[in-house]
Formats: sequence, C-alpha cells, structure tokens
Amino acid sequence: MKVLVTGARGQIGRALVNSAPAYVKVRPYGRMQLNITDARAVAECVQFHKPDVIVNAAGFTCVDRAESAPEHASRVNSKGPRYLAMAARDAGARLIHISTNFVFDGEASAPYLPTAATNPLGVYGLTKRNGEDAVLKILPERSVILRTAWIYAAEGHNFLNTILRIMRTEAPPRVVVDQVGTPTSAESVAAVIWNIIGMPEMNGIHHWTDTGIASRYDFALAIAEEATALGVLPRAAGITPVTTAEFPTPARRPHYNVLDKTSLTSLGINSIHWRNQLRDVLQEIKNA
Ligand SMILES: NC(=O)c1ccc[n+]([C@@H]2O[C@H](COP(=O)([O-])OP(=O)(O)OC[C@H]3O[C@@H](n4cnc5c(N)ncnc54)[C@H](OP(=O)(O)O)[C@@H]3O)[C@@H](O)[C@H]2O)c1
Repeated sequence: MKVLVTGARGQIGRALVNSAPAYVKVRPYGRMQLNITDARAVAECVQFHKPDVIVNAAGFTCVDRAESAPEHASRVNSKGPRYLAMAARDAGARLIHISTNFVFDGEASAPYLPTAATNPLGVYGLTKRNGEDAVLKILPERSVILRTAWIYAAEGHNFLNTILRIMRTEAPPRVVVDQVGTPTSAESVAAVIWNIIGMPEMNGIHHWTDTGIASRYDFALAIAEEATALGVLPRAAGITPVTTAEFPTPARRPHYNVLDKTSLTSLGINSIHWRNQLRDVLQEIKNA
C-alpha cells in the first residue's frame, strides 16, 4: 500500500511517517517538496505516485496569525484540501484530511459529536471548515475528515514546548483556566490514522483526541509536575491562573473544546489518558 503524506514535517506528519507499519510505502512531502496551494504540483505529484491513500497533515496552524493573513490561511486550509481531493478523485485514491475543534464555537457543555453544527469563531476555524466542506463535496465516498484538538509533540510549536521554554527562564507562566479540552499527542493521532487507513470502507467526519478533560491551566500544572519529576526541568516555577479576558489574543478561542470520539472508540480503537501520553512525550524530550 502506498500512502502519500503532505505536511510531512509538521507534528502529525512526522509522527505519521515515523510510525508507518512495515507493509506501507510512505511518500512523505514537506512544504518545500509539495506546496498544497499549487494545484498543478498537487495533481502531478498524485499522478506520479498513484497512492492508495493521501493523508493531508499540512495546514496553516497559527490561529492568531490567521486573523491578519486570511487569504494565506484560506489558500492552505481551504484551497489546498480542495486540490488534494480533486487529485485523489482523479487518481482513485482515498483522502484522510485532518481538521480541528476550531470549527466549533466552544459554547457546548457536552463533547461535540461529528454531526454537531459548526460555527467557527475566527479565520483559522472558518478556513478549516471550508476545507472540510470542499473535501466532502468532491470526494464524499472516499474521504475521512479527522478532527482533533490541542496537539503537542516533542518537537514543534505547541503548548508543551511553550510552557517548558517559559519555565526554563524561571518566569511564572500565566495560563488560562476557562478553556477546557483534551491535550492530545501527535503520536495518538498518527496511530488512529493508521487504524483508519486499515479500514478502507470508512468515510465521513470522525473525532479523535486522547482521553480526559483539562483546562489549559491543568495542562500547564501537569507539564510542570511531570517535567520536574523526570528531570526535564530543574524546578517548576509557579503558574498564574488567568481568565481568557485577562489574556487577550488576536483570535478568539473556544472555551469548550472536548470532542466526542465514540464513532472510533466503538470500533475498538483505544484512547489513552492525556497525562500518560504527556509523560511519554516528556520522556522522549529527555532522551533527545
Ligand atoms: N496543532 C494543533 O493543536 C491542531 C489541533 C487540531 C487540528 N490540527 C490540524 O492538524 C493538522 C496538522 O497540524 P500540526 O499540529 O501537525 O501542525 P504543524 O506542526 O504546524 O504542521 C503543519 C505543516 O504543514 C506545513 N504547511 C504549511 N503550509 C503548507 C503548504 N502550503 N503546503 C504544504 N505544507 C504546508 C507546515 O510547513 P512549514 O512549517 O514549513 O510552514 C507544517 O510542516 C493541521 O491541519 C491542523 O489544522 C492541529
């Protein structure tokens, strides 16, 4: 089986390439090798490899920057998936496209089902939703939209590395208490994508995160505790809890970010508690 991965140098892309089963031939493409906003390059690359499956792990993921660069965000998050879906359709391939909880407004108080109404609060969420719509319209039978949330990995721009960086300077980070979600390791998402690839009949929208619910503040406290216990940090600075109102950012962020993943767990795919995954990723940072 041949699997083409776009955005292969991002957090999820790397985890996917590093965990490919032996029976799979992976064709990893970072942005420098394949810019998904170039329709012709996308078509040529897909025609050349004739993959069975394309996984789109590319995205413009800077939520705040998207507010001042809406056209760029739209090219990467909406048009890119559209070009990939067209190329997949022409080549007879499946497309697994990664999306986000930011398609929701975070006003819910129970985990979001894949069928819940979307209502993005900002440019990032809107462009991601338009990308989902394009994929589902062009390739309804052979596409999976996998929404996830709060991704982190040992390498990359993410909450874990930001908190570690601030704590290494011994400054006490200020972290919001009124945004809750499930910290999710990129490796967990990669594992579920390989599961989905092994289920050729699956299509439609699905959700995946690790298990459990935490505020950003809880996540930061856990990072401090676990990183100190493992010796990744010499000592933990105190963390100051703040409200979203006290921590203004260019983009509005949803308060409630929990996704219902029973469409996948009911198939026997296991989800692990976020704190256990955090420990594993910190161990990886320690070993690096
Ligand atoms: N991070 C999260 O918390 C989170 C949560 C939910 C869903 N997601 C979704 O998951 C997917 C992967 O996210 P991630 O966390 O792995 O993000 P990431 O680490 O930022 O990786 C995204 C990758 O996409 C590449 N890219 C950007 N523009 C591109 C283009 N025009 N053509 C090809 N590649 C391009 C980036 O390359 P450069 O770095 O060279 O620009 C980067 O390697 C995205 O679709 C994102 O929306 C992420």
